[in-house]
Amino acid sequence: MANHFNNKVVWITGASSGIGEALAYALSAAGAKLILSSRRLPELERVKQGCSVPGQVQLLPLDLSDTDSLQDKTIEAIKCFGGIDIMVHNGGVTQRSLVIDTEIEVHRRLMELDYFSYVVLTKALLPHFIEKRAGHFVVTSSVMGKIGTPMRSAYAAAKHALHGFFDCLRAEVTADNIKVTILTPGYIRTNISLYAVTNKPYGLGKPSENIENGLPADRAAKQIMKAIKGGKFEAYVGKFSSERIGLWLNRLLPSVLTRIAPRLVPK
Ligand SMILES: NC(=O)c1ccc[n+]([C@@H]2O[C@H](COP(=O)([O-])OP(=O)(O)OC[C@H]3O[C@@H](n4cnc5c(N)ncnc54)[C@H](OP(=O)(O)O)[C@@H]3O)[C@@H](O)[C@H]2O)c1
Repeated sequence: MANHFNNKVVWITGASSGIGEALAYALSAAGAKLILSSRRLPELERVKQGCSVPGQVQLLPLDLSDTDSLQDKTIEAIKCFGGIDIMVHNGGVTQRSLVIDTEIEVHRRLMELDYFSYVVLTKALLPHFIEKRAGHFVVTSSVMGKIGTPMRSAYAAAKHALHGFFDCLRAEVTADNIKVTILTPGYIRTNISLYAVTNKPYGLGKPSENIENGLPADRAAKQIMKAIKGGKFEAYVGKFSSERIGLWLNRLLPSVLTRIAPRLVPK
């Protein structure tokens, strides 16, 4: 594992918490040079100090919702170590509200953060990858990027959109030696549900039981690194559990999934 990532420059968004944080620790231990991004600089600093080689970690705070700023942030990121080998698109938020209760503004906000920011960053970085005829986009989608269950329409729509965009990109750039790996995590134990956007202004504000029982983030990071190293087109990340069965049902017996999905609405 160490050889594949040794001296590689990896830019991770959403690196201040959860999956991105765990990935930062695992990649640093494997010898990678890191650029860590999210909004909260003190949290990024904490993650940097937790890395095996803090001297090989640069911090680049950014707000993914501020898409106008992302072209300049990409130029800054490339300058950090003189190039980028792997871009991990990972920052984002989830959502919990029924369609009937969800303001259109929430749908737009989720698309802007969980979809358009990834597109803008990718388009900004792509010329760099094409020029050096190498690069790897790693995209944290979700099981919700493949299936639909209640309470997640805005989130699932943004995650489904990622598959359309990045599958097309892969078909365009494979000849340039550029790889695209889309991750479809199930439940991973992180803070994601605390900040879930709801029909109320300030989000869910409490942990979800499913997330609390999810795969620990450090184990998710190991699965992700295996998928990156293997150059997988798409990789499930998580426990062998209901989410994985949901993916199979969606492919083989979608009507069964639709019938059981309403039972998944949290009380
Ligand atoms: N946990 C799960 O069960 C699960 C399952 C499937 C998919 N995922 C996906 O995994 C990714 C990481 O989530 P996580 O579970 O690790 O959750 P998390 O612990 O809440 O981490 C989310 C990260 O996104 C960053 N972020 C949020 N809004 C941002 C913004 N406007 N600009 C820049 N950064 C922003 C946060 O940093 P700041 O607050 O510092 O900005 C944080 O670093 C997400 O794309 C999520 O959809 C998670």
